[in-house]
Amino acid sequence: MNKQALIELKNISKVYSKIDMETHALRDINMAIYEGDYVSISGPSGCGKSTLLSILGLLDTPTTGSYLIKDEQVANLTADDRAEIRNLHIGFIFQAFNLIDEISVYDNVALPLKYREPKLSAKEVNKQVMESLEKVEMQHRCSHKPNQLSGGQQQRIAIARALVGKPSILLVDEPTGNLDSKNGDLVMALLDNLNKAGTTICMVTHDPRYADHASIKLNLLDGVILDDITLNDSTLQEAV
Ligand SMILES: Nc1ncnc2c1ncn2[C@@H]1O[C@H](COP(=O)(O)OP(=O)(O)OP(=O)(O)O)[C@@H](O)[C@H]1O
Ligand SMILES: [Mg+2]
Repeated sequence: MNKQALIELKNISKVYSKIDMETHALRDINMAIYEGDYVSISGPSGCGKSTLLSILGLLDTPTTGSYLIKDEQVANLTADDRAEIRNLHIGFIFQAFNLIDEISVYDNVALPLKYREPKLSAKEVNKQVMESLEKVEMQHRCSHKPNQLSGGQQQRIAIARALVGKPSILLVDEPTGNLDSKNGDLVMALLDNLNKAGTTICMVTHDPRYADHASIKLNLLDGVILDDITLNDSTLQEAV
């Protein structure tokens, strides 16, 4: 069966150029992410993990190579067109939560939805925001401000915010980096459940225990993918 990839990177390289120095952050990366996948990206500090995630999330452009999302070539689009595709397809979760402390949890989650679908009625916004908050079991905190919540709770709000637009993929950079191990485990259990319910996830993590939650484990070293330990259904079938 020839399944269509959700995202496909072909021969992607990223070079950061300064006047007197070039840094090759990514070298000839080839990878594909399919619907329902749970991908982890691991590797030492500075090996290119965040650069790769920024390119996957259309926050940054590669120096060379091609990027396809649902078979559409996006590398050569204008910044505005890329932003539109990003809003439509990508949900981000960052290590530092990146919530806005001046507005309520509800408004934080509603913000990307209003940006993405400005014509949505207040009733429909309310429905989708509350659905998202229920998925992370935080509906009872919708009137709080983010800084009135624990770190684990803030990360769950950030996950609700990433989910609200029903993105094609969640991109997650060190989701447990600012959490103690108990809250880290809770956030990981939540991501596991979302993946079991069909959400596609690509997660950067330093922690090998958390990388083990993924079915496809990529290891980066000096901007190169070392190996690809894949445990998806078709691989398991082939092994039988
Ligand atoms: N804006 C930039 N300008 C120049 N060099 C950069 C820039 N961003 C990253 N780099 C360099 O590119 C390489 C990869 O950086 P990247 O942030 O992707 O690493 P990382 O694997 O995410 O590291 P960490 O685990 O510490 O977060 C590093 O050598 C870094 O110094
Ligand atoms: Mg990083």
